Parts: sequence; C-alpha cells; structure tokens
Amino acid sequence: MYYTKKIIQLKYDALNYHIIGGLEMKKLLTIMLFSISLIAVLASISSAEDKGDAAKGKETFNNTCVACHGAEGKGDGVAAAALDPKPRDLSNGEYVSTLSNEHLYKVINEGGASVGLSPLMASWGGVLSEQDIWNVIAYIRQDVCKCQYDAN
Ligand code: HEC
Repeated sequence: MYYTKKIIQLKYDALNYHIIGGLEMKKLLTIMLFSISLIAVLASISSAEDKGDAAKGKETFNNTCVACHGAEGKGDGVAAAALDPKPRDLSNGEYVSTLSNEHLYKVINEGGASVGLSPLMASWGGVLSEQDIWNVIAYIRQDVCKCQYDAN
C-alpha cells in the first residue's frame, strides 16, 4: 500500500514537473515569438539604402533627372533655366532631410502635383519601375543630399 502511494506520488510529482516544464516552454515560446515579431517590425523600418541600389540609382538619375536637377542635383540642369519654379536643390541636405522616403517616392512616382508642387516635376511612375525609384532615392540619400530623413 505504502509503495503504491509512493508510486502515485512520484507519478504526480513527475506530472507536476511536466506541467511546470510545459509552462516554462510556453513562456519561452511567447518570448521567442515576441522577439521574432520585434525583429520583423524593426526590419520593416528599413532605410532607402536597404531598398535601393545607389549605383543603379545614379544611372537612372543621370538619364532621367539630370536635365532639370543637374549633375549634382543642385537644380541647375540645362533645362532648369526655362523652368519656373526651378527644380529643387536635391543636394541641400537641410531641406531634403525634411522629406521622408515615402514623400520622395510619391513625388517621383506621381509627380509634383500629387504633393502640391509644380506639375513641371513630372510623374515618372510610367517610365521607372518601383525598384528604379527606390534606387534613385538611395542615390539621392547616399550621394546627393548625403542625408537621412529627420522626422524632427
Ligand atoms: C522637366 C524637369 C524635371 C525633371 C526631368 C525632373 N524633375 Fe524633379 N523637380 C522639377 C521641378 C520644377 C521641381 C520643383 C517643383 C516645385 O517646387 O513646385 C522638382 C522637384 C523635385 C523634388 C522635390 C520634391 C519636394 O517635395 O521638394 C524631387 C525629390 C525631385 N524633383 C526628384 C526628381 C527625380 C528623382 C527625377 C528623375 C527621376 C526628377 N525629379 C526629374 C523638375 C524636374
């Protein structure tokens, strides 16, 4: 009788241990899932350089934007003299750091008029692919304004 009791007790202890072990496992899984989603969220807040290739963007810029914005993005391209308002100076880090990547994407994709600017800044969505546009933005950030978006 004593032994039966003892065995039941032992089984009970083992079960208890198992349940507690299970709980620990659950906690661990929760922490793991939480960390994974945190990493996913952090990864989605990526910079333009992560989305685009600045070297390819330079090519696109030189083929498509230079006539107005100029080789260094200063807004002094050959066509700029005839434009009013003038193309923006994209080398001005102080100004361009006030523009988010999403804003730049919209202006380039849908044109100046889509954000209340001049329609002389055309929409390039029909000419450039989504990737082309991100490449150009990466180029602007890395080599033209040498600036990142400063939300403040
Ligand atoms: C036909 C001339 C012309 C071409 C080509 C051109 N732009 Fe522009 N862009 C302008 C003008 C003009 C403005 C200023 C609009 C205003 O101030 O209302 C401008 C403004 C901008 C701005 C500033 C947006 C802001 O919120 O201040 C960006 C960024 C820009 N252009 C990027 C590009 C890129 C990238 C290309 C090439 C894919 C390009 N532009 C091609 C004329 C041009």
